[in-house]
Amino acid sequence: MSELAILGGPKTRTQPYPQWPAWDERDIEAVTAVVKSGRWGGHPFPGPQTAELARRFSALQGGGYAVPMINGTVTMEVALRAAGIGWGDEVIVPAYTFQATAAAPMAAGAIPVIVDIDPSTYCIDPQAVERAITPRTRAIIPVHLGHQMADMDAILVIAEKHNLVVIEDCAHAHGAKWRGRGAGTLGHFGSFSLQSSKILTSGEGGVLLCRTPELAAKAASIIDCGRPHALGGGEEVAGEAMMGANYRMSELQAALANVAIERFPAQSRQREQMAAYMDEALSEVTGVRVLKRDPRHTTRSFYRYIFAIDPETFGIEHDLACAALDAEGISAGLGYEAMHHYELFHPEKSRLAVPNAFPEYFQFDRMSFPQAERASEHEAIWLDEAIFRSQPGDLDDVIEALKKIQRNAPELAEAARKWRQP
Ligand SMILES: Cc1ncc(COP(=O)(O)O)c(C=O)c1O
Repeated sequence: MSELAILGGPKTRTQPYPQWPAWDERDIEAVTAVVKSGRWGGHPFPGPQTAELARRFSALQGGGYAVPMINGTVTMEVALRAAGIGWGDEVIVPAYTFQATAAAPMAAGAIPVIVDIDPSTYCIDPQAVERAITPRTRAIIPVHLGHQMADMDAILVIAEKHNLVVIEDCAHAHGAKWRGRGAGTLGHFGSFSLQSSKILTSGEGGVLLCRTPELAAKAASIIDCGRPHALGGGEEVAGEAMMGANYRMSELQAALANVAIERFPAQSRQREQMAAYMDEALSEVTGVRVLKRDPRHTTRSFYRYIFAIDPETFGIEHDLACAALDAEGISAGLGYEAMHHYELFHPEKSRLAVPNAFPEYFQFDRMSFPQAERASEHEAIWLDEAIFRSQPGDLDDVIEALKKIQRNAPELAEAARKWRQP
């Protein structure tokens, strides 16, 4: 019999990892209190729970004026609109991220200009950003991916030099710090998702951190049907309306987020300790590459723990390794496609971009981002965060499973060749 579970052998791990989202009586009490108060919705903005969330979120990240809203895609669209960026402007985004990072500029009427990533971190490559700048460039959206942070020093220098707005996509980076400063407080804006897979969640939701009280007031207006709001994104005030729509967070979601923030520091500490153990242990597995740990990234957070395999030395490609890991009882995934391969926002599929309106853009079939393609098609493996809320012995199962798969890679490669034969 094969040693590998995917080929009928025994599983390395039969116990499930802890469930997500984690919840307790506090969530039930918080939601119950909102239900009984009769103040369920987000109008007038901000409600008491939403205002409390704004305070707690700024405190968590250590700065910025926080404006809660409905998700972590709209946050980026609102940031662009608050900064006056829209129709025909170019916004630079990385080639390896969730499609929302490019869909948000398109929703604001801007054009996402995709650039490659740094293979050592899987985050946006600052040199590629610099090469992509044109007179129409207005903003950069670096994404802090998985458990990494983009090189914010280099990005801020480029932004300053070319007078660009920086929107940090922090959907994966709650609690992360760069040189001791919170993710999302380094650029002009920090965009956070509270969607259910995220490490701080209210089911759905988002928070936009703004560098100035003026930007926060504009963001609050945009999400509250254009009503004018006080500096810092506070209450409605007399004044001129602007164009906006209802992107308000409900009080029920804000109540859940407020409880999640109470639990967050302990969860984060645990994930960070476990991940440090994982860095060490993984580097002993043949054919596995641990992503660069930048010393300027002073506090790491773990939406997913990403590592790379070298298919040549590991013996198989990442898709096969990931399927084998899954069969061994280890929850892992392959991460994202390279941005130009997403079908979701191809002009001919979604009509988000008017075909032929900008013939120089959206030529997805002619684009090439070798580093993002290598990560997404050959080498990246994303371990679920739940693994990092267990005990150190539970991490050993991951290492044992990987070693077992690597040892038996020739057998698995041969089996896969047969499965794939027509
Ligand atoms: C990197 C990244 N950016 C943006 C988003 C969008 O967040 P939301 O789903 O809350 O709109 C997500 C997640 O879903 C994401 O992973």
